[in-house]
Amino acid sequence: MPRHVAIIMDGNGRWAKQRNLPRTAGHREGVKSVRAVVEESARRGVEILTLFAFSSENWRRPRTEVNILMELFISALRNEVRRLHENKVRLRVIGERAAFPERLQHRIAEAEALTADNTGLHLQVAANYGGRWDITQAARRLIAEVQAGLLDPESIDERVFASHLSFPDLPEPDLFIRTGGEQRLSNFVLWQSAYAELYFSEVLWPDFDEAAYGQALEDYARRQRRFGRTGDQIEAPTLVGARARG
Ligand code: IPE
Ligand code: IPE
Ligand code: MG
Repeated sequence: MPRHVAIIMDGNGRWAKQRNLPRTAGHREGVKSVRAVVEESARRGVEILTLFAFSSENWRRPRTEVNILMELFISALRNEVRRLHENKVRLRVIGERAAFPERLQHRIAEAEALTADNTGLHLQVAANYGGRWDITQAARRLIAEVQAGLLDPESIDERVFASHLSFPDLPEPDLFIRTGGEQRLSNFVLWQSAYAELYFSEVLWPDFDEAAYGQALEDYARRQRRFGRTGDQIEAPTLVGARARG
């Protein structure tokens, strides 16, 4: 079972189009899949679920669609947070939230504060998030620390750099799912997914149910994660470990 699953929830617009509905009907329907995947993750013991809800690039969409997505986000927070809290879910939003309407920022802060001490599934919603934004903001903060004399540039290694990214306290994604058939990363968690297992599903997000999610998890279970080592090393870890120890 992956500890951390990250999902690009794609295909809402096409789902609606197939039904001659406005794209926003697909976004509304997609909220049901969020519920299903959150509950299934908790049931199966996934520790962290990171969902891509709105990318740094999604501002380029028609103004009306962006506005409806914001409204949907606000109403989803209003309607779902109580239930999430009852189910011990910790909710956190990652991304540049200063760009959101005040009302939304306020709701996000409230939901995070309410659920901060929960011990169940850690749900991260990526909103106005971009992998390049994340790396850039980390670089900016590192430079500020250097300029303030708090950090020696020589000490900046991968670990120090990563500690300035979003969610430094959580393990990196093990399984990276994209629904909707496209096979690209679209600027989702880039640095943190360097070693994630990728899984692309043809299923459009509003149709992505427990069974479709289960298939992704089963596929993951069959992968061999080598992290640069050889397959033999992974299959006989004790032997290799014993050799390494001499
Ligand atoms: C993903 O579905 C939801 C968001 C990006 C907010 P899309 O809206 O991208 O759906 P398609 O890709 O057009 O079908
Ligand atoms: C990625 O989907 C963003 C979210 C799912 C929130 P897009 O549909 O915006 O991605 P591209 O633009 O087709 O790559
Ligand atoms: Mg899309």
